[in-house]
Amino acid sequence: MAQFQAVKGAKDIFPDEIVRWHYIEGVIRSVTSLYGFSEIRTPAFEYTELFQRGIGSTTDIVGKEMFSFLPDPNGRSITLRPEMTAGVMRAFLQKNPGGGVPVHKLFYIADLFRKERPQAGRQRQFTQFGAELIGVANPAAVVEAVSLMMQVFDTLGLHGLRLRINSLGDLEDRMRYREELRSYLEPYRNDLDEASRERFEKNPMRILDSKNPAVQEIVAGAPKLLDCIKPEGRQEFEKVLGYLSDRQIAFEVDHLLVRGLDYYGHTAFEVVSPELGAQDAIGGGGRYDALSKELGSSAEIPAVGFAVGMERLIITMEKQGLFATLSPHGPQVFIVLQDAGLEDHAMRIADRLRRSGIMTETDLAGRSMKAQMREANRLLAGFALFVGQDEVASGSYTLRNLRTSEQVALELDAIPGVLHESSKP
Ligand code: HAM
Repeated sequence: MAQFQAVKGAKDIFPDEIVRWHYIEGVIRSVTSLYGFSEIRTPAFEYTELFQRGIGSTTDIVGKEMFSFLPDPNGRSITLRPEMTAGVMRAFLQKNPGGGVPVHKLFYIADLFRKERPQAGRQRQFTQFGAELIGVANPAAVVEAVSLMMQVFDTLGLHGLRLRINSLGDLEDRMRYREELRSYLEPYRNDLDEASRERFEKNPMRILDSKNPAVQEIVAGAPKLLDCIKPEGRQEFEKVLGYLSDRQIAFEVDHLLVRGLDYYGHTAFEVVSPELGAQDAIGGGGRYDALSKELGSSAEIPAVGFAVGMERLIITMEKQGLFATLSPHGPQVFIVLQDAGLEDHAMRIADRLRRSGIMTETDLAGRSMKAQMREANRLLAGFALFVGQDEVASGSYTLRNLRTSEQVALELDAIPGVLHESSKP
């Protein structure tokens, strides 16, 4: 075993896997542009208070999952970002201190860090693709965010995903509901597990999404949050559901969906994948109008967004066989050097081919001809180009198609044209 291993919960991604990432990222970039979203990149760390205020101090993320440190003895604590929404809103407010800007549609593909117990589909460093629509959060904007997420899944060919949706009402609705929920749960307090007992005081709504079957049985009879929501909020939620139905996006209203970040209000949603085990959420999001004020804005800036876990997306696609047609492509041509003395000549040819847009590999390790041919095949090269004394003397080079074994003799000037022609579909 190598002396150093990657830190538990963090992973290396080698070229055979990166082709999958590039493919998915390409789909994300093209679908987000159809919806008019542009990319934002923010720093990998932020001041710790941003997350304490933004995500909420009673959440699991802020309570126990952040990687925080002091940059210097007298510095302010800094945290590796556990999610993107707070940072994106911070960046937005920093750039537009007076507010009053038109709608912003932003997307990101970013690395995040959470000190969770690593397991399948749960890492300590992971990647999210997400989008934030800042400046409006009416039902049409909520549906635009959900549609964008679902169109990415559809374009990638995923099937069997379930969209769970709920309304969390406004702050007043939730305060009322919390009290109702506590009164309902009070007689069961001793039957709750330790985590739920802890949540009973701090954040009782999180008990609703417990994964413990005994707790699930108790909350099955709990009052519904939707019944505590004022008529305007309910109407708005109905409108979201109506628009989703119009677009033939299937959903399930789930009264137990609460989400694990405090900034949400009104519509919240989550997508679960049938291919994931205990960690079955592939993505989630919702409206978060309160976040801007929490981060110091004088006026509330309505916003809605979502994020999808890339690793969970890849696990799901792998199990659904959606990478089958993705084959890694090798160089178009591998230059096989027949005489070590001609190395500089081979390098000049490689340079010329690359400058004319041909993916070209050469032997950098001084291998025998047989070993070079093995390497060309391992790299899945399309052609081998032989460079020896005879070729240099005559100016005519042998180009062998490694799929069909056909070969032709060509002058150097003719080679780019032949290779370009052969790579056309
Ligand atoms: P979240 O539900 O915490 O939401 O994370 C979104 C997705 O990130 C999850 O559904 C999951 O696929 C993935 N994920 C979360 N933690 C891990 C982990 N430890 N390992 C692997 N994947 C993970 C948010 O982060 C919100 N910021 C989403 C949002 C955007 N809401 C509004 N805008």
